[in-house]
Amino acid sequence: MQDDQGRIISAQELIDDENENILRPKQLTEYIGQEKIKNNLSIFMHSAKKRGECLDHVLLYGPPGLGKTTLSHIIANEMQAEIRMTSGPAIEKAGDLAAILSNLQTGDVLFIDEIHRLNHNVEEMLYPAMEDFGLDMVLGKGPSARTIRIPLKKFTLVGATTKAGMLGSPLRDRFGVICRLELYNPQELGQIVLRSAKILGIEIDADAGKEIASRSRGTPRIANRLLKRVRDFAQYENSDKITLKIAKKALTSLEIDELGLDNIDLNILRCMIEKFNGGPVGLDTLAAITGEDAITIEDVYEPYLLQLGFISRTPRGRVCTQLAYKHLGLGGDYIYNDMFKEEN
Ligand SMILES: Nc1ncnc2c1ncn2[C@@H]1O[C@H](COP(=O)(O)OP(=O)(O)OP(=O)(O)O)[C@@H](O)[C@H]1O
Ligand SMILES: [Mg+2]
Repeated sequence: MQDDQGRIISAQELIDDENENILRPKQLTEYIGQEKIKNNLSIFMHSAKKRGECLDHVLLYGPPGLGKTTLSHIIANEMQAEIRMTSGPAIEKAGDLAAILSNLQTGDVLFIDEIHRLNHNVEEMLYPAMEDFGLDMVLGKGPSARTIRIPLKKFTLVGATTKAGMLGSPLRDRFGVICRLELYNPQELGQIVLRSAKILGIEIDADAGKEIASRSRGTPRIANRLLKRVRDFAQYENSDKITLKIAKKALTSLEIDELGLDNIDLNILRCMIEKFNGGPVGLDTLAAITGEDAITIEDVYEPYLLQLGFISRTPRGRVCTQLAYKHLGLGGDYIYNDMFKEEN
């Protein structure tokens, strides 16, 4: 851990730092995009610090790879707090959570990833902890059982989930700050690619950066992954710089089309068009036909296809739009399904 002047003041995180993703921004100012969230969070953090309090509990939600874990580290960093990381499925019993909570120090950030996967008993224990900083423990069994409340130090819970819809309202309502992360636009992703290239120590042409960005499906994690793979191609060709030509060649070899769609996206669209005349198709049917997991389709593939306007969701299922037909070069051969025509 470092102080304001960048001096190292604790050894613990130095060890952690070595394993940590070096591409992860550490300060809010380094975090690219998500302007609304950044503005709001910086105001909330600033004011909480002014009052000498810890930040209210924060819920971060949005598709994978958009920067939820990164943001939780930044919150801890900016609040000069220690962060404890855990995840919904890792906390099996209420007793595990009790141990974690009672070890927290004042101001600590407790990060619970995949918070929608907490089991019921654990979640119930979290309610009084979040609201009143207390832990309700039942002592004894049967008629002589009684509940005592153990006070906890004040902490900030940062919960992350890809599925805000799966969070019950009692839990959701206990978060004072709820942030929905959006897919990034190509300009923001371009900045992320250039920043990451700098950290990785590889030169990159601006147009090559743009090319990678536009094929990253709005997701920083994918942008960073593609950058690393393109770097491999550049190094293989003994080029000390990623040029547009190398980037294009590498991305084509990786079978990522110019919109960032890979084989699975294309397969989903093709199945919808060829087998269901464009839809509507239910999620489970789509999963069975494409051989993909329904949750993966919903969390990973669908958000980007929705953003591109290639599919739309209707009460009767998913429907392919004309844009998808066009992208697949299927313009004239297929009759757009009637339902979609009616809707538009
Ligand atoms: N705003 C950003 N600016 C720069 N880099 C970013 C930003 N957001 C994310 N990244 C990069 O993308 C990577 C993935 O982010 P992160 O692990 O925080 O995503 P996540 O939302 O927690 O994903 P998951 O839901 O899968 O846990 C990070 O390692 C970081 O390098
Ligand atoms: Mg994460």
